[in-house]
Amino acid sequence: MEPRPDWCLPHPDLASWLEQLSDTDCDYWHEHLLEFAQEAAHFVPALAAYAELVSVPSLFGHEGGTKAALKEVDAADMPGRKRLQAGAFAATVAPLSGSVLDWCCGKGHLARTLVGQGAEEVFGFEWDAELVQDGNRIAAKYGDPVRVAQQDVMAEQLSWPAVAHGAALHACGDLHRQLLRRGSAAGLARLSVSPCCYHLGGRGEYQMLSERAQQYRGALSMDRSSLRLAVQETVTAPARVRAQSARIRAWRLGFDALQRSFSEKGQYLPVPSHPPSLNNGTFEEFCRWAANKKRVVLPSVVDWQHWQAVGERRSRQVRRHELLRHLFRRPLELWLVLDYAVYMEEQGYRVNLGTFCERSLTPRNLLLDAQLKLTNSK
Ligand SMILES: C[S@@+](CC[C@H](N)C(=O)[O-])C[C@H]1O[C@@H](n2cnc3c(N)ncnc32)[C@H](O)[C@@H]1O
Repeated sequence: MEPRPDWCLPHPDLASWLEQLSDTDCDYWHEHLLEFAQEAAHFVPALAAYAELVSVPSLFGHEGGTKAALKEVDAADMPGRKRLQAGAFAATVAPLSGSVLDWCCGKGHLARTLVGQGAEEVFGFEWDAELVQDGNRIAAKYGDPVRVAQQDVMAEQLSWPAVAHGAALHACGDLHRQLLRRGSAAGLARLSVSPCCYHLGGRGEYQMLSERAQQYRGALSMDRSSLRLAVQETVTAPARVRAQSARIRAWRLGFDALQRSFSEKGQYLPVPSHPPSLNNGTFEEFCRWAANKKRVVLPSVVDWQHWQAVGERRSRQVRRHELLRHLFRRPLELWLVLDYAVYMEEQGYRVNLGTFCERSLTPRNLLLDAQLKLTNSK
């Protein structure tokens, strides 16, 4: 949004160092943010502690859960990554016993994988009727003791199956928070959650869960859209997709520079998502679509080549500024998840927090495993 963000003023040396980075260095640092923090610490000394501050224990063994993943022949409907992610999650929470509830289970991939780790029976909650049907069909095909029920997990009335353990792999935003809230209120003995898409669900200011974190509300208030930063990563996107989004980003920035050049306010103008058909078009077609969408009247003569080049320059600059912005990603995610952990402690649980797989398998690799503490009240 800003060619010269506010931080450039107190840190001019950092800004010029960043902007002169080569493409190779920039790409490398994006993949190695911990090393980038060390470099940037030459300009902002506090960053020297970055790696230590964002480190969390890994909860998985050296096999990374590959043994617990369903065999490929038994996972025909399951995308490869999902198979390995479910395997890593299941291995980390193993050994299991009794019945487990898979929260927002999709087709029940995790549910079926948990069976292999000792769960006697797994219930699944899923609201999409087609996925429910598929889930039950697949479980029946492989003879797995898995039953998927159609259930909106946000509903006031939830009829809990007889389980002591709730698990959620990548249930988005309010969906996983709902499991922490409702599962702890229902007194489940164990809740194992790998969160993702923290920003999804609800609107406006984000409410921390724990009473302790709520005390910092004034200092650390955030709207939900800012939480999106915590999941802004493209490690899993194929090169072709990444190249396409880079091209579109340059076009967006080119259009923005163009409209600023003749608009009265000269400010950033947010443009909504574009139709996929524009991906294979030209810069000019993109600008005409964006102008129409935003009711902007373009000048009769536009030097398209010039504005496209401006967009490409700005895109290079944004990518470099993003290195700094992305340093906030993991701390933000940890802040959110640590709030969940504190909340669960407040509800009487003992919490284990760490990673259940390498980041290359999924950047959403945090696992919060909460066990209800035994009380001597009887
Ligand atoms: C990101 S997917 C994760 C699926 C599964 N846990 C996995 O790892 O394959 C989230 C799932 O939540 C389901 N879902 C979304 N909102 C829901 C709701 N209110 N109640 C129940 N399920 C919901 C979606 O249909 C989707 O299958």
